[in-house]
Amino acid sequence: MKKQELIDKVTTVFQERFNQTPALFFSPGRINLIGGHTDYNEGFVLPAAIDKGIVVGIQKNDKDHCLAYALDMDEQADFRIDEIAPIENGHWKNYVLGVVAETAQKHSIETNFNLVFAGNIPLEAGLSSSAALENSIAFGLNELFGLGMTREEMIFVSQKAEHKYAKVNCGIMDQYASMFGEKNAAILLDCRSLESTVFNIDFKGYTLLLVNSHVKHQLAETAYNQRREVCEKIAKMFGVKALRDISEADLSKVKDKLSTEDYQKALYVIQENERVVEASKAISTNDIQALGELLYASHEGLQHQYKVSCEELDFLVNATKENEAIAGTRMMGGGFGGCTINIIKQTAVAAFKEEITPLYQEKFNKTPSFYDVQISNGVSKIATTINS
Ligand code: GLA
Repeated sequence: MKKQELIDKVTTVFQERFNQTPALFFSPGRINLIGGHTDYNEGFVLPAAIDKGIVVGIQKNDKDHCLAYALDMDEQADFRIDEIAPIENGHWKNYVLGVVAETAQKHSIETNFNLVFAGNIPLEAGLSSSAALENSIAFGLNELFGLGMTREEMIFVSQKAEHKYAKVNCGIMDQYASMFGEKNAAILLDCRSLESTVFNIDFKGYTLLLVNSHVKHQLAETAYNQRREVCEKIAKMFGVKALRDISEADLSKVKDKLSTEDYQKALYVIQENERVVEASKAISTNDIQALGELLYASHEGLQHQYKVSCEELDFLVNATKENEAIAGTRMMGGGFGGCTINIIKQTAVAAFKEEITPLYQEKFNKTPSFYDVQISNGVSKIATTINS
């Protein structure tokens, strides 16, 4: 669905359901060119916001509770701001409740409110629909109640909601990219200082194509949190804050104190951080081949060292290696499913889709989906054009 259709739909449903005209906000999902699992190690990432995301409509009400309607799921939740607690794992309500609770801890939300949200971003595809939802609500509450939060404060509210309510101990990349995205640019983000450098993306004949494996891994959250724990444990051994502070040479000194698995995970993080910096250089010199090689190397590491890939993603990456029109490919996001990101010649996209679809179907009995990526701006208020 196009963004404008989504905006119209949320507006209409809001008016029908609550008899009010909402304030509207759009919050995008994100891609990440390179830098998998480096953010919570206070390292570097190279993400960008995309043109797909979440639209939220929000308006004050005079009831004694708040109402949140998830349009795509056709489900409504009611809650009282001062009585919020996380509910069963995996439920969409946790994102809403988490952001409201975290906001209310620091700012006074003076009345109850109604909220409707819907998205055109595929769920559990590694495109951060959850960060998009969190940010949209933080931004909406901030505007509606004039809370004076900065964008930076809002991303930390969103991240805390993810930690405490969705129970995923994520880094800051997704919330940052969704909030601060810039049109046609990838952002080299230092996840420790939040310093960023913007790189214009003009791949001269190449484009970014996402391939959705349609694999959703049940235990992804647990596996994600476990990896973060391993990284933190090793950083602690060195008495430093994060793996960001350790070099390959440092790591090799404690090799015999670590299991092979843990050693490889830490090594991956150190090497991936270096790849991100290299990738930003390749973008600035327009060296698409070098950038592509770095993506392949990133995937190798995620597959064999960090072990967050899956058979389907590996297949989708390997299938591109002989294709001269594809410079590089890797899995993207938390892992165990979701999308691969491909740097591919514009003229070769149609043929690639035709070639990979039957191969993937035959092997996994599933049909992949394809998304052309438009790199877009971060969260914004939508000018309301429809009158009630
Ligand atoms: C998820 C998390 C991010 C990041 C990526 C992996 O998307 O939310 O913080 O760790 O996985 O790079």
